[in-house]
Amino acid sequence: MTELSALSTENRRFDPPPELAANANVTADAYDHASKDRLAWWEVQASRLQWDRGWDRVLEWQRPYAKWFVGGELNASVNCLDRHVDAGLGDRVAFHWVGEPAGDRRDISYAELLAEVSRCANALTELGVGRGDRVCIYLPMIPEAAVAMLACARVGAAHSVVFGGFSAQALIDRITDADAKLVITSDGGYRRGAPSALKPAVDEAVLQCPSVEHVLVVRRTGQDVTWTDKDLWWSDVVDRQPATHQAQSFDAENPLFLLYTSGTTGKPKGILHTTGGYLTQVAWTHWAVFDLKPETDVYWCTADIGWVTGHSYAVYGPLANAATSVMYEGTPDAGGKDRWWSIIEEFKVSILYTAPTAIRTFMKWGDDLPGAHDLSSLRVLGSVGEPINPEAWIWYRDVIGGGRCPIVDTWWQTETGAMMISPLPGVTSCKPGSAMGPLPGIAVDVVNDAGESRKAGFLTLNEPWPSMLRGIWGDEDRYRETYWSRFEGRYFAGDGAKWDDDEVLWLLGRVDDVMNVSGHRISTTEVESALVSHPSVAEAAVVGANDATTGQAIVAFVTVKGSVADDVSSGEAFAKELRDHVAKEIGPIAKPRQILITPELPKTRSGKIMRRLLRDVAEHRELGDVTTLADPTVVNAINEKMGQQTAAPPA
Ligand code: WT7
Repeated sequence: MTELSALSTENRRFDPPPELAANANVTADAYDHASKDRLAWWEVQASRLQWDRGWDRVLEWQRPYAKWFVGGELNASVNCLDRHVDAGLGDRVAFHWVGEPAGDRRDISYAELLAEVSRCANALTELGVGRGDRVCIYLPMIPEAAVAMLACARVGAAHSVVFGGFSAQALIDRITDADAKLVITSDGGYRRGAPSALKPAVDEAVLQCPSVEHVLVVRRTGQDVTWTDKDLWWSDVVDRQPATHQAQSFDAENPLFLLYTSGTTGKPKGILHTTGGYLTQVAWTHWAVFDLKPETDVYWCTADIGWVTGHSYAVYGPLANAATSVMYEGTPDAGGKDRWWSIIEEFKVSILYTAPTAIRTFMKWGDDLPGAHDLSSLRVLGSVGEPINPEAWIWYRDVIGGGRCPIVDTWWQTETGAMMISPLPGVTSCKPGSAMGPLPGIAVDVVNDAGESRKAGFLTLNEPWPSMLRGIWGDEDRYRETYWSRFEGRYFAGDGAKWDDDEVLWLLGRVDDVMNVSGHRISTTEVESALVSHPSVAEAAVVGANDATTGQAIVAFVTVKGSVADDVSSGEAFAKELRDHVAKEIGPIAKPRQILITPELPKTRSGKIMRRLLRDVAEHRELGDVTTLADPTVVNAINEKMGQQTAAPPA
């Protein structure tokens, strides 16, 4: 609690730059308008889109199910492309795409993107994919990723993008749950200076997934691939299609995408988003929170399309607003640790949206790297994915933003679809490290266990919002149970929060068994399941421990099966084997930073693993209350182990 109270006594304030405030897209009266008539206000924002049929009712709310813009019809792809081309913006660059290998570049105009999406939509139709289907997309950050998403939207099929860092097993789980009939992938992508294969994971997955009829393969790296009779080259099927496609309009509530995210059980949840409300809130927040001037800004969201940030703020939001974006394929250190800064300099990026973990990594790498580049084009900086510590906030402002750019710290979730809590750059006087307060049209409440409003406690959302999830794919009970059962009538976000004395809101991290590692959401249970699926592991307990760079780091406590305990219990080789096993089961992002082999796990008398205590051990804190522990000596054994294993494992 000491860190938390330190946060809420932060008294520094940073006002919006006067020039930005004077020309801001959104001014303070937005809050008044929205609070006077929330629904009417969202209707105004929805009118920023092109509807083929107007809605009859703005909201139908049968808790916990919302329908927004009921009866309205639109096409998300048309809203991102055709209407801009029709308005004469066809020559505007939609994406400055930057591949990882030096000099690998492609500028794609809105007209070119529309042509490519039309070809892909025609190909989908030829492959029998249309409304009511799901398409799994497993691609690196190449233009075809956005093309594939928009083509699905265009024909009314829901996409399910799976992050390229997930394993074959994770792919199998997601394809199976969504019953996807097409997978779009590539031979590989470039990461850290070398081609990294994707197709083998798909090959393995398709063997286990009878729902998949075809695999459409983009040639990106040219590396060897094995070929099956379900495989089709993108260049054979998409390139020969007509470059025009008459899009149909779909109901506002037609599914747009599923995106799997970790919950508190081992099974990922397929978060369902639909079309009209999602696009309304994504487009409005992208325009308002970044103060986007589409004619002059160059915008860069560094998130991968495998995460919700990549969906909402690298694809749908910027394209709906006719923005010019940068899309970069690789890692921040490819071709030099100043790669990002040279990209910003080259394209004169004016709005940068990234994650605290990246900012802290750059802090570690030193001020000289950004200092060697002209970053004066920047005017607004964004942060997302985890709480940003005030020190990183100030560094971001001073070293990257040259002291002139407002920082918008945006809180939201896969489930919320779009930003919910954030400053407005032309309005809000910001405190470093705080997301400040709810955006216009959003209602939050911080409550205690009994659901009563308090200054500190659990973050809840007490009114439906346009881009809210419409459910968990195929699991209505879990939807009600996870989000709507803990506090009567409210959405429970899973985060702790606190209002300070100036009515400023501080987000305090997850209060459930979900970890946040480098802004990636990973469930402790998922990693535990992966560990116990190893034949030598008896039991596993996983906690997220504070980490100076990644926010949280995964620390696993493992007991091994009797017969193997003696040979393996001390081996670093065994820890490596377990780490690789987790990478195989989930993906490299879920590899524990540390694995401790212990004789026992600390449990309460009822047999529940005491995670809080393990977190204390992992963070070398003074131990809390251990009186409920069935065998208190266990803790000493663990602490001893922890003392021996001070060296961090290889990344
Ligand atoms: C969880 C959602 C939002 C897109 C990326 C992550 C944490 C997110 C912030 C922020 C403090 C944040 C929360 C949330 N989180 N943004 N600005 N300040 N915490 O989406 O994977 O669905 O994770 O990320 O804990 O619940 P996600």
